[in-house]
Formats: sequence, C-alpha cells, structure tokens
Amino acid sequence: MGRPLRDLRISVTDRCNFRCTYCMPKEHFDSNYEFLPKGQIISYEEIVLIVKSMLPLGLSKVRITGGEPLLRKDISKLVSMIRNLDESLDIAMTTNGVLLKNKINSLKESGLDRVTISLDSLDDELFKEMTDSKFGVNQVLEGIKTAIDAGLKVKINSVIEKNKNENQINKLIETSIEYNIPVRFIEFMDVGTTNSWKLDSVVTGKEIREIIQKEFGPLTKTKPNYYGEVAKQWKLARYDLDIGFIESISSPFCGSCTRARISSNGKLFTCLFSEQGHDLLSMIRMEATEEDLSTIISDIWNKRKDRYSEERNSEKQIHRPVEMSYIGG
Ligand code: GTP
Ligand code: 5AD
Ligand code: SF4
Ligand code: SF4
Repeated sequence: MGRPLRDLRISVTDRCNFRCTYCMPKEHFDSNYEFLPKGQIISYEEIVLIVKSMLPLGLSKVRITGGEPLLRKDISKLVSMIRNLDESLDIAMTTNGVLLKNKINSLKESGLDRVTISLDSLDDELFKEMTDSKFGVNQVLEGIKTAIDAGLKVKINSVIEKNKNENQINKLIETSIEYNIPVRFIEFMDVGTTNSWKLDSVVTGKEIREIIQKEFGPLTKTKPNYYGEVAKQWKLARYDLDIGFIESISSPFCGSCTRARISSNGKLFTCLFSEQGHDLLSMIRMEATEEDLSTIISDIWNKRKDRYSEERNSEKQIHRPVEMSYIGG
C-alpha cells in the first residue's frame, strides 16, 4: 500500500502500576493474571539489534512504551544504547508519569528527546477511579513539571470516555495553557478484548471540539507537523495553543500508518489491532543477524495490508486483537 516505515513503538514491559479501566481493567489484570516471565521479555541488547536493523529501512523515530516503561529496570540505559546508534533519531517515551521525577535527569542525559504523559482527569477522585490506582493527580503534574524543567518536549495524552470524563476536557485545556504544552484528546478505542468497549462510550473529536469552543472560542484546523501524524492538529486562536485530536474511531488514519510495533516479548506487529505478531525474538535467539532482521522486517512490512480502523465496521472483523499493555499503545 506504499506506506513508508518510519516509527518503531517498543513495549518494554507488559506490566503497569495503574489499572486504567480502558486499558488494564482490574477484573482481568488481577493477581491471577499471567504477565510474561522474565526469560520471555526482550532484552535491551535484542531491542538494539532490531532498531539497528531498521535504520536502513527508513526508521526515524523510536517510542518507548509499555505497560509502564519506567517500571523496567535501568530504562535510561536502553535510551542511551539507542541514542548511541544514531544522533538524529527522535527518541520519545509514553508514560503515566508518576515515576518520572526520580528518573528524569538520567533519561535526559541518556538522550531522550520527548515524553508524552497520560492524564485523563484533574479531579483526584475521578483520576483514582479511572486509573484504579493509589496514585494522585499531583504526582502526574509533578512528573510533567520535572520533565519540562529538564528541557524535554512534553505532551499530554487524554482519553475521553462518554459519561466519565467529558467534564475534564476544559480543565485539561486550562492545564495545557498553564504549562504551555500541547494536549491531545484520544477517542476511546476498541483495543484488546478486556475493556468492554462500546461505540456508545466514544466521545468523538468533533464532540470534544464543540465542548472546547463553547468555553474557549474558535478552533481552526492546521497542518500536520509531519507525514502520518496520528493527531490531527487544531489551534485555539485566542491562546495560540495547539491541540491534537486522535480520531481513530470517527476518522481513521490507516492510509498513512508508518508505525511498526515490538511487543514486550519481541514480536513484530504491523497493526495495533493485529491478532498475531512475527516472532523476531526467537529468530534473534536462533542467531539471526542484523542483516537477516533487515530482510525479514522489510519483507513483512512490504506485504502488510492491515488497516483495521478503516475496516472496523466491515464484514472483515477480527476476533481477538492483542492487549494494548502488551503491544504498546
Ligand atoms: P507523536 O510522535 O508525539 O506524534 O506521538 P504519537 O501520537 O505517535 O504517540 P502516542 O504514544 O502519544 O499515541 C497517542 C495515541 O494514539 C495512543 O492512544 C495510541 O494508542 C494511538 N495510536 C498511535 N498510533 C496509532 C495507530 O497506528 N493506530 C491507532 N489506531 N492508534 C494509534
Ligand atoms: N483507547 C484509547 N487510548 C488508549 N490508551 C490506552 N488504552 C486506550 C484505549 N482503549 C492510551 C493511553 C496512553 C496511550 C499510549 O494510549 O492513555 O496515553
Ligand atoms: Fe498503564 Fe498506560 Fe494502560 Fe493506564 S493506559 S493501564 S497507565 S499502560
Ligand atoms: Fe495503523 Fe492499524 Fe492503527 Fe490503522 S489501525 S493506523 S493500520 S495501527
């Protein structure tokens, strides 16, 4: 389909210290849930081999994700190992932010460029309900502040769910104005099989924009920052503020999907909604070289036909897409 390979999203762990109801609901991710055993988790050296093999294929961005990536031991070490491969690679991390404070300096020193922090509510009670965790909003805000102070580029990601946190939309805009960082509103997606997704629970980008405009004035659509950008860009003229909308349900973007994903057990997925991945880790453990991996990945990428979000409502439905915490958002 002619889509270039540009980004790699690496899930470094399938574990998380939150239990967001739309991602890892506690009824499913409880003490009986079998997370991946240590031996099956991809090592930093193995990740680096994959990244290296993808550089000649056009890779320009790596996003470290999870689960919660800051739970993985010595995560800064992985950042510096990737940075040592290529000075110009854009290296970003998606995190819930509560463990950022103590790790931010080493992450920055290791060469991390950007961090995107998830925050769905500024109301502590609702935050605790949605994340089903012992943490509070202040710990996330502190994470955001420390990341800004350390000189990283910071964004906020907010998933909006019907009858849950629509009343937080304008508060999130205020936070974005206060910290002078972009917020991106994400439509609740039908990833995995455990989050009881229903079309009725989705608040569309258009609906979110209507709520914002009532309070803050007109929003105008602007140009993407780069080819294949997931978030559609809008500007809040009165505040000169950029706001993103990730509209995978109401306005899918598969036609310019440039993202490959590696799950925490080293499988390559070419779509967030895939049922199965390609087991690169076993190939590496059977001595596949960097060149072998380049050939294999290029072959898989060139054959990919997936465009799940665009086919969501068609007959061609898939049945058991993998969980987001395992594949990386
Ligand atoms: P930037 O590099 O800052 O533009 O980040 P990003 O938007 O690519 O990544 P981020 O981790 O912040 O993802 C934002 C949201 O978009 C998350 O909910 C992701 O699950 C979702 N997302 C990212 N890539 C895709 C994709 O290819 N398909 C779908 N359906 N959703 C995606
Ligand atoms: N729908 C939309 N976004 C989701 N995320 C996790 N689960 C879902 C879902 N079901 C978001 C997180 C994080 C990003 C990587 O993905 O909030 O910001
Ligand atoms: Fe953890 Fe992020 Fe999933 Fe929430 S959305 S449970 S913080 S991985
Ligand atoms: Fe890419 Fe799949 Fe998302 Fe479409 S649904 S944009 S193909 S990851």
